[in-house]
Amino acid sequence: MSQHFRHDVLIIGSGAAGLTLALTLPSTLRIAVLSKGDLANGSTYWAQGGVAAVLDDTDTVESHVEDTLVAGGGLCREDAVRFTVEHSREAIQWLIEQGVPFTRDEEQDREDGGFEYHLTREGGHSHRRIIHAADATGAAIFNTLLQRTRQLENVELLEQHVAVDLITERKLGGSRQRCLGAYVLNRASGEVDTFHARFVILATGGAAKVYLYTSNPDGACGDGIAMAWRAGCRVGNLEFNQFHPTCLYHPQAKSFLITEALRGEGAHLKLPNGERFMARFDQREELAPRDIVARAIDHEMKRLGVDCVYLDISHKTESFIKTHFPTVYERCLKFGIDITRQPIPVVPAAHYTCGGVLVDSRGLTDVPNLYAIGETSFTGLHGANRMASNSLLECFVYARSAAEDIVSRLDSVPMPEDLPTWDASQVTDSDEDVIIAHNWDELRRFMWDYVGIVRTNKRLQRAQHRVRMLLSEIDEFYSNYKVSRDLIELRNLAQVAELMIESAMLRRESRGLHFTLDYPERLDQARDTILQPPTYCG
Ligand code: FAD
Ligand code: SIN
Repeated sequence: MSQHFRHDVLIIGSGAAGLTLALTLPSTLRIAVLSKGDLANGSTYWAQGGVAAVLDDTDTVESHVEDTLVAGGGLCREDAVRFTVEHSREAIQWLIEQGVPFTRDEEQDREDGGFEYHLTREGGHSHRRIIHAADATGAAIFNTLLQRTRQLENVELLEQHVAVDLITERKLGGSRQRCLGAYVLNRASGEVDTFHARFVILATGGAAKVYLYTSNPDGACGDGIAMAWRAGCRVGNLEFNQFHPTCLYHPQAKSFLITEALRGEGAHLKLPNGERFMARFDQREELAPRDIVARAIDHEMKRLGVDCVYLDISHKTESFIKTHFPTVYERCLKFGIDITRQPIPVVPAAHYTCGGVLVDSRGLTDVPNLYAIGETSFTGLHGANRMASNSLLECFVYARSAAEDIVSRLDSVPMPEDLPTWDASQVTDSDEDVIIAHNWDELRRFMWDYVGIVRTNKRLQRAQHRVRMLLSEIDEFYSNYKVSRDLIELRNLAQVAELMIESAMLRRESRGLHFTLDYPERLDQARDTILQPPTYCG
């Protein structure tokens, strides 16, 4: 039997953004945090490099802002960048108070007033400003925040709960627009339950799973973006899909990331013959922003017809490598690569969704009482290319800001009245799951081939034609069969793919991560690509 639940705040997503919000809200509120898999299902757990923040006395807010604007290809919203960077120090302080075991700097002389944590460097940053926990920062943050959340009696952590769609007053035929809750598939019972909530937060992560090769875990399907779109929210800049330059190239390694901090600490990119090549593309060489490095690698691989390039840190001492990069060292060793002696075979892979659901500095979307925070949102921070380690920072800063806003509105937002139960009377069990699996494959392959690092009008048109066919097949399937996690994700991924393709077709220039052979130049004026759904009523 499907059930009804009531919470003050429904947080969809248990990554950095969702857990930070749960921990920041008052303990008087009844809160549910959902994860569609286990709680570590999102990208947060896998983050390696660290969190960018102005922490060192020789660094400044101005410098971090300037670096972000440059990496963002002239498209960042300066107010969003400033807002994020200005709140970076307090966000890190909060994480330290929660107990995150960041790596300490043993060489730092604290009597000089120096910062006591080790700061590393990544592409685009002109200072050492990445605080980290060796090369497994995400796991350290996630485990700490989860442990803290488990101690809260007012927070229910619900694993294997997949949000299917948002419930809004408009969808129920009302004249006002506001979010009232969500329908959620409980994978244990197989039922779709009705969650009533005064405030709903999408903290569902990105959509890099839309590509065949990705650094992201399986759940990165853009669920939040698709749900928000269907609920009437605008989305922005979805053509900017970031490809991380260096994922491990090995037949048995499922897209394992080789952190950019390796390059920050001096690793060199090399061709199969051992020659370094980045100087031919950018004077910052290996520390150029990601769009430039990924495109350079792609170019060299195509020029030489090779399957990968190499990242070499073997000129550093064995103890340095093992201390700073224990995760990368161990993982590569498992595949027979000793990084203290050998270069690592690497290729670019889809990594981060720069665009998303349009929000303001409080994380508020176009639909009242609906927020979006973390990778699912579009705050304007990243512009045309996210600078390394600004993503986790954005999760913390906007989650804390959303919490403040929710608290300020508690007296004016009532619990929704009784909401209708999910109607499953017209659907049956699917006996054709092979169709879902096939469509998944097809989608991710043509997105990789046609909407990848280098685009053309023709490729985008082909992709658009195919995604529309897939969407109509998926719609039919969705109307006739019971929902499953695979079907929900496929439906969302195809929806987001269509929005990405449409956004890419609208951008008639090359800027940041969007590079097209048909418009290789950058236009003088930088404009966001904002798409408005048919249900928008702003
Ligand atoms: P996530 O951590 O992705 O969490 C999403 C949550 O939403 C999950 O709990 C998932 O189960 C849930 N969810 C999704 N859809 C549904 C649904 N329909 N119903 C219920 N629940 C749902 N960024 C940095 O700043 N620094 C780094 O060093 C760094 N390294 C990275 C390394 C890797 C390998 C990867 C993949 C990313 C890295 N990033 C890094 C990016 C960064 O990790 C992510 O952008 C960030 O963790 C996103 O956090 P989030 O809370 O928005 O979402
Ligand atoms: C990395 O460690 O290279 C990932 C950093 C990021 O995505 O910000």
